[in-house]
Amino acid sequence: MKQYNVGILGATGMVGQRFATLLAEHPWFHVKVLAASPRSAGKTYEEAVGSRWAMSVPMPEKLRGMVVRDLNADIDAITAEVDFVFCAVDMKKDEIRALEERYAKAECPVISNNSAHRFTPDVPMIVPELNPEHLEIIPAQRKRLGTKRGFIAVKSNCSIQSYVPALHPLRKFELTKVLACTYQAISGAGKTFETWPEMLDNLIPYIGGEEEKSEQEPLKVWGTIKDGEIVKAATPSITTQCLRVPVSDGHTAAVFVSFARKPEKEEILKLWKEFRGVPQELDLPSAPKQFIHYFAEDNRPQAALDRNLEGGMAVSVGRLREDTQYDYKFVCLSHNTLRGAAGGGVLLAELLAAKGYFD
Ligand SMILES: NC(=O)c1ccc[n+]([C@@H]2O[C@H](COP(=O)([O-])OP(=O)(O)OC[C@H]3O[C@@H](n4cnc5c(N)ncnc54)[C@H](OP(=O)(O)O)[C@@H]3O)[C@@H](O)[C@H]2O)c1
Repeated sequence: MKQYNVGILGATGMVGQRFATLLAEHPWFHVKVLAASPRSAGKTYEEAVGSRWAMSVPMPEKLRGMVVRDLNADIDAITAEVDFVFCAVDMKKDEIRALEERYAKAECPVISNNSAHRFTPDVPMIVPELNPEHLEIIPAQRKRLGTKRGFIAVKSNCSIQSYVPALHPLRKFELTKVLACTYQAISGAGKTFETWPEMLDNLIPYIGGEEEKSEQEPLKVWGTIKDGEIVKAATPSITTQCLRVPVSDGHTAAVFVSFARKPEKEEILKLWKEFRGVPQELDLPSAPKQFIHYFAEDNRPQAALDRNLEGGMAVSVGRLREDTQYDYKFVCLSHNTLRGAAGGGVLLAELLAAKGYFD
């Protein structure tokens, strides 16, 4: 496989640290640039991150001494050194939109974890197993941006990463109504229990903007390309409540669903078991072998036990049963900074590389 030099924009943050950990030994991608704000620029990666290192494994040896760049001021030097960048920054939405377009227009593709471009109609929002066909929008986006190579591709919000994969293969029975309550880990806010001690023995019933994303993003993932834009799916109708819970990593969702044609429980279990996407067919390095794991035990999936399944890239599901108000209910879990953030970004980049979008 062809090899690529890559940069991480926002390398010092929670998601950036995950990217650094995942990419340090990647078989195709080689980290050449780490970039962050002017606060970190000029320091070694180790100095810039300091006590903020939040991963359970040590900082990769080969990245410790690398000097962090300023992701705004050093854009020309950065784009000259890399084939594409991963981006996960905490800035205002309009600043992120402008930043990502500057990189794309400098002919440097951007794989983004930020929400800023998720609803730009010609920017694909990809869960590689679910909607890889949306990459076909990229030529239309390049035309708008006036680029030959540069483009922006985004991944979806971490909250939908648990329940949308489980719903996806069931769409053949026509989903009509979905209700999902998410129980989201503190790393989703870029925090640990050390930096957010108020979360110990606590629950906060509000995550700004999360319910809108959780209700709207699945419809773009299930959308269709028409006249150079991705048109959102009209159904199902989705309602959500998103709560912050005292869990370090792993977002759980309690899901209720109704169908136009109600399937048998065994049909659902079979579809989950047999579901394979393009990443599994192409055997991409970060793809889980079994995307959806069903647990028959009543007390699974559990965040602490199951979030790291298949390197944190698989989705765990359990407790499928009939409901009195909806057709069925079940519980899903996915690792929010692996499958839900950096791991999902790396898998998207692998898909793009395998399909030749960086060449
Ligand atoms: N955490 C998750 O589970 C998760 C999941 C999906 C998506 N996301 C998204 O990923 C993005 C990053 O999240 P995070 O949790 O990693 O945030 P974070 O830990 O707060 O990290 C933010 C990063 O952005 C950089 N930054 C902040 N202000 C900047 C500025 N003015 N100019 C340039 N760089 C700046 C920081 O650099 P310094 O260190 O130099 O300040 C740091 O590298 C957000 O858009 C978030 O919504 C997060």
